[in-house]
Amino acid sequence: MGIENKVAEPITDCAARGLRHIAFIMDGNGRWAKQRGLPRELGHTAGAANFKKITRYCSDIGIPAVTVYAFSTENWKRSKTEVSALMRLFGEYLTNEFDEMMVNDLRVVFLGDRAPLSNSLKVLMERMESASVNNSRLLNIAINYGGRAEIVQAVNKLIAEGRTDITEEDITSHLYTAHCPPPDLVVRTGAEMRLSNFLIWQSAYSELYFSDVLWPDLTPGDIDAAVAAFFSRERRFGNA
Ligand code: FPP
Repeated sequence: MGIENKVAEPITDCAARGLRHIAFIMDGNGRWAKQRGLPRELGHTAGAANFKKITRYCSDIGIPAVTVYAFSTENWKRSKTEVSALMRLFGEYLTNEFDEMMVNDLRVVFLGDRAPLSNSLKVLMERMESASVNNSRLLNIAINYGGRAEIVQAVNKLIAEGRTDITEEDITSHLYTAHCPPPDLVVRTGAEMRLSNFLIWQSAYSELYFSDVLWPDLTPGDIDAAVAAFFSRERRFGNA
């Protein structure tokens, strides 16, 4: 077979090759809806459907940990209709995906400050987390999450413990992500090139990948491209 006809090898073993944790800034739902003349909320509905597809695909190609940015501390500033639609989508996920989570051996952990969320959401979140705590693959869902606030709460916990002489390891072990390694790769869709307060401590040495594709349109092929770009990079972690 000529080189031009050669089909790329399917990716299956990401963790063995150093990609153990991928994180997504799922941007572009609003623009996706606008392009179709739809209300923004329907962009989030399409985004939530694609979140399920993409996280499953990441697992299929051997990435054991996935983190998604579902709702930032700034997102409360959006219209009441949009915030309600997002909260409804979280509620639906928490109830409808519980069995699937267990079948798929998925551990779900929520990152962020839950205090302002409704009691019913909080109960469902705790139920999902506690039922899945011993499952092997990891899905972190950041809801009411901000990276600076996360660092501040870590420092406050350390102060409450009476700690002084704080080290980097102390901060790391008091973040919402204390249970997992930092992301190897952070992918942002929607043609914006910034981190927007997402995992700012944890991404110090992460590879960053920006895609013009809007989140609801992101395909497994786009993930393959991001993963190929990751494997083509040399990670030096500050070494020469
Ligand atoms: C940013 O796009 C996206 C969000 C603020 C919400 C992301 C949420 C989802 C994809 C749903 C996740 C669902 C579950 C169950 C975890 P944007 O609205 O800022 O898009 P725009 O920049 O085009 O306006």
